[in-house]
Formats: sequence, C-alpha cells, structure tokens
Amino acid sequence: MEVFVTGACGYIASHTIVELVEAGHNIVGVDNFSNCSKDVAQRLRKACGRFIKIYDCDLRDEYSLSNIFQYERFDSVMHFAGLKSIRESYKYPLEYYDNNIKGTLNLLKMVEKFGVENFIFSSSASVYGFDSTPPFKESYHVNLPVHPYGKTKYMIEQMIFDLKFTTSIILRYFNPVGASSSGLIGENPKGVPNNLMPIIVSVAAGRLDKLTIFGNDYDTPDGTCIRDYIHVVDLANGHLRALDFAFRNQKSEVFNLGTGKGTSVLELVKTFEKVNNLKINYEFGERRDGDLPVCVSCCKKANDKLKWNAKLGLEDMCKSAWDWELNMKNFRV
Ligand SMILES: NC(=O)c1ccc[n+]([C@@H]2O[C@H](COP(=O)([O-])OP(=O)(O)OC[C@H]3O[C@@H](n4cnc5c(N)ncnc54)[C@H](O)[C@@H]3O)[C@@H](O)[C@H]2O)c1
Repeated sequence: MEVFVTGACGYIASHTIVELVEAGHNIVGVDNFSNCSKDVAQRLRKACGRFIKIYDCDLRDEYSLSNIFQYERFDSVMHFAGLKSIRESYKYPLEYYDNNIKGTLNLLKMVEKFGVENFIFSSSASVYGFDSTPPFKESYHVNLPVHPYGKTKYMIEQMIFDLKFTTSIILRYFNPVGASSSGLIGENPKGVPNNLMPIIVSVAAGRLDKLTIFGNDYDTPDGTCIRDYIHVVDLANGHLRALDFAFRNQKSEVFNLGTGKGTSVLELVKTFEKVNNLKINYEFGERRDGDLPVCVSCCKKANDKLKWNAKLGLEDMCKSAWDWELNMKNFRV
C-alpha cells in the first residue's frame, strides 16, 4: 500500500515506518520538525535500507498539504503528528488545540477529498477516566480528560467517529518506551523531555540532576502510579496489523495497544538500574493533576482481532532505551 505517515520523524512513527517498509509498503512522510531534528530523516532511510520521501510541512498549512495530496496518491494515512506533553498543554492550551485539532482537520479534509481508504490515528489511554476501573477496555465509557492534551485526543476521536468516508482505526497507546535495535532511531525529543523514560535516561546520562516521581501515596503496592509500558517496536508492529485489519475488513474500530501488565514508576526505575547497572537519582514530589493511580490496558480485542501481541518485556524496554542513548551520542551535534 501507499501510506502517508504524519509526524514521520517522531519517535513512534519512525519505528512504524521501519516495520511498514519491511512489510513491503511504500511510504511518504511529513513532519514539521517541531519535536525532532532533521537528521532523523537520513537515519530513518538508513534503517529502512531505502529512500523515503519526507516533506517538511506543517499540517496546519492546508495549501502545502493539499499540494502533497495532489502530487502523490495514498491508500492509507497514519496520523502520528501532534504535540504530546500533558504538562506543556496546561501552559499552552491554545497551541495544543491549534496544532492537534486544526492539523487533524486539515488532514481529514484531504482524506475525504482524495478518497483515501484507511485512516489510522494515534490516540491515547488518557481518554479513559477516573470513573472506570482498570484494565481499561475499548468498550468502556471515555471521558473528556482534564488536561488539554488529552482533550485534543478525545475531540479528535469524536471527529473520527462521525466520518463515513474512510475506514478509521483509532489506536489507544498506553506507555511506549524503548528503541529499535538498529541504533539509528529512538526517542529524542527537543528540549527538556516530558515522558518518564527519556527523563530516566537523561538523569542516567547526567543531562538532568534528578527524576521527580509525582506522588508516592497512591493506593498501589509501592505508592507510585502504575502504568502499562509497551516496547515501541511492539507498538509499531501493532500499526502494521491495524493497517492489514482495515484493508481486509473495511470496518472502523478502536483498539488498545498495551501489554495488559502494570508496572509502577518505582519498578520501572529499579528495572532500568538493574539491567543497565546504573543508579538513578530520584526524589518524590507532589501528585500531578489528572494522573490516574493505575492505567493498564485490556488488549484482548487487539490480540483477537488484530492477531497481535506485545512480545518484548520490561527489561528489553529498559535495555534498549539506554542502548539508544549510548548510540545517540554519535548523532549529537
Ligand atoms: N509517546 C507517548 O507516550 C504517546 C502515548 C500516547 C499517544 N501518543 C501519541 O502518538 C503520536 C506520536 O507520539 P511520539 O511519542 O512519536 O511523539 P513525537 O513528538 O516524537 O512525534 C510527533 C511528530 O509530529 C511532528 N509534528 C507535530 N506537530 C506537527 C504538525 N502540525 N505538522 C507536522 N508535523 C508535526 C513532530 O515534529 C514530531 O516529529 C502523538 O500523536 C502522541 O500524542 C504518544
């Protein structure tokens, strides 16, 4: 298939492109490089073993986006592009609504106008709320999240539910971590990282002094929040299965992509320390607004319908995240 991938040089999309190329799909990407460096494109091509065309374009620029769609032909769109920091979204809510909502709206207009058959969207577990009991199932009631980032995911999901012109697959990710074994791509956000694993890695590498764990008085065995960490390569593979599902069934669906296993923040830190033989300097801070004590998926639907299972464990995730950091030193400018 001809697949248009937005946010192509970002963390999850770059890993997904490698899987898509390996499976024989043709990829055209787009990125505005707001959260990645331009040299990712070169490394991604190397990881794929072939040239991938990546347009430097912001999805909010409807004119340029339309030119891409006029020039190329796509069967499917995978939509990863978006701003993703909960903390930042409280500070700049309008930037989040503008980027995530307007960018998606423009993209969906193109999907409709150019008759793209399949649309796959990167949603988030943050649409599951305080009134549900984990493990979260796709059939559970979703809530308007408290933070603007989560609200954009919720709103985009609602937009997608209204569409009849394309087969839409909403993928609700849990907590992607780790990196591919190629050593060429991994998580490398611009500025100070916001996600837990890049913060742990930055502390281990000495770029940050310490990790603050938000809350140690939750009703969990060690008092810290429990999350469902999933290796990014498994997550990427889930996209391949979702694309195949959309193509074969032409049926819109929502799928959780997680492992179904809960790990506390403290357990993740301890595992990282153990497998990499490192010490992480951490402290406990206040709870953060909007953090659920436990956020774990039920991924039975994806297991059954997509014939997909996460295969890699927590130790692989921690090991590959640190290996990527060691490799990345070669790419820093
Ligand atoms: N990483 C996670 O923990 C996580 C969890 C759940 C959902 N998601 C969602 O998955 C998607 C990908 O996440 P990621 O971790 O790879 O993030 P990322 O920041 O690494 O990748 C997103 C990419 O999109 C690009 N981008 C942003 N706005 C754009 C725009 N308007 N036009 C063109 N390009 C734009 C960025 O430059 C970046 O390369 C996001 O939508 C995110 O919300 C991520």
